[in-house]
Amino acid sequence: MKVVIVGSGYVGLVSGTCFAEMGNTVTCVDIDAEKIEKLNNGIIPIYEPGLEAMVLKNIDRKNLFFSTSLKDSIQSADIVFIAVGTPMGDDGAADLQYVLAVAKEIGQAMNHSLVVVDKSTVPVGTADKVKATIQQELDTRGSDISFDVVSNPEFLKEGAAINDFMKPDRVVIGAETQLAIVKMKELYIPFCMSHERFITMDVRSAEMTKYAANAMLATKISFMNEVANICERVGADANQVRIGIGSDARIGYSFIYPGCGYGGSCFPKDVKALKKIAQEHDYNAKLITAVEDVNDAQKLVIAEKIIQKYGDDLTGKTFGIWGLAFKPGTDDMREAPAIYIIKELVSRGAKIIAYDPKAIDEAKGHYLKGIQNITYVTSKYQALENADAMILLTEWKEFRSPDFEEIAKLLKQAIIFDGRNQYIAYNIEEKGFEYYRIGK
Ligand SMILES: NC(=O)c1ccc[n+]([C@@H]2O[C@H](COP(=O)([O-])OP(=O)(O)OC[C@H]3O[C@@H](n4cnc5c(N)ncnc54)[C@H](O)[C@@H]3O)[C@@H](O)[C@H]2O)c1
Repeated sequence: MKVVIVGSGYVGLVSGTCFAEMGNTVTCVDIDAEKIEKLNNGIIPIYEPGLEAMVLKNIDRKNLFFSTSLKDSIQSADIVFIAVGTPMGDDGAADLQYVLAVAKEIGQAMNHSLVVVDKSTVPVGTADKVKATIQQELDTRGSDISFDVVSNPEFLKEGAAINDFMKPDRVVIGAETQLAIVKMKELYIPFCMSHERFITMDVRSAEMTKYAANAMLATKISFMNEVANICERVGADANQVRIGIGSDARIGYSFIYPGCGYGGSCFPKDVKALKKIAQEHDYNAKLITAVEDVNDAQKLVIAEKIIQKYGDDLTGKTFGIWGLAFKPGTDDMREAPAIYIIKELVSRGAKIIAYDPKAIDEAKGHYLKGIQNITYVTSKYQALENADAMILLTEWKEFRSPDFEEIAKLLKQAIIFDGRNQYIAYNIEEKGFEYYRIGK
């Protein structure tokens, strides 16, 4: 099939590359000319394990193309995906300006029947807006070309995006016509070979499914963080409690690690957007509001532990930070707890030495840009030289079995604050460290 993906970010680039991998001819479009130029030169603008090799292979096979022109790209397309950003607007609602701008451009450019697919995470009712926007452009041109608008929310996880896309738990398709379902099934069947994962439903339910899934996962995280905060106060160990409750199959082990809160490009904005959707329909989403409140506070729990230890004024203190990305396997720092923790510590006079395997450019160039008193280093041990304490914030594998003797030598005092949510170092206190973690 001939597929066009509009928006070549984390979702668009991964989806387009995986469709190309299955033998489709794919053009990824973006308005960011620099990004497209890089991609055309085989330079991948984001870090995602396995992506680079797959992009290069499919460029070589002539299955995968990159362009800044939506108009040229859709002339022979069967299916066009909208995969642009839907960031949080000022009022917490998803900002649909990019999605609707693409819809308008599609309406202006399409010259034959098309299936238009919303892959961006969008509020319920957006497919209707996309449809109306395209139709308005067709009416202006006096064109009677037919088209379908399908909702196909994306569930990939950054850091494991290729695997998630190639072997999805489910492919959710919200469509109004049988023709659209058939086309989507033809495209997705190679990804669903081992068993049926193709779920069809009405468009609004598909749009809602994405928000419900992310809100459920965020709820598990905030629930466990709340339990962890209670554990700290009553002398229980949240990690042991996690193991105790996770053994119940109805609860399960995933997403119940205590930590410094969820971040990233999806959970924070999607939880907020769902709250807003509810509000707009005269419903006060109390649980979703609490999930968000717990998370906002949780981002600063590690900073609070540091303040408890050293006092309000951190002037003269230096902290070596391991991990800036919101989770391992990505360079994405959107809403990463590290941003909030570092800003809090710096605002109290602390100096930071930071290391991350992939996210330093993002931190320097964007999320922590202009903040004084941060030094970035290229090796993890360098971050600890003469620091008062070490702070662990991302569960990168290279942080799992560090050389504790080396760490103790480099630090002024053997003190570790651990905000990671998936790994508790073994016997760390017995190695002579003062060790602070979430939930104990
Ligand atoms: N990142 C994830 O893990 C993830 C997972 C599932 C769903 N989603 C959803 O997918 C959508 C995209 O997320 P992302 O993380 O890939 O965003 P992103 O910011 O990485 O990429 C969006 C891209 O769209 C481009 N763009 C904006 N306007 C455009 C236009 N008019 N024409 C062409 N390109 C345009 C931008 O230049 C950018 O490259 C969002 O709605 C997000 O919520 C993201």
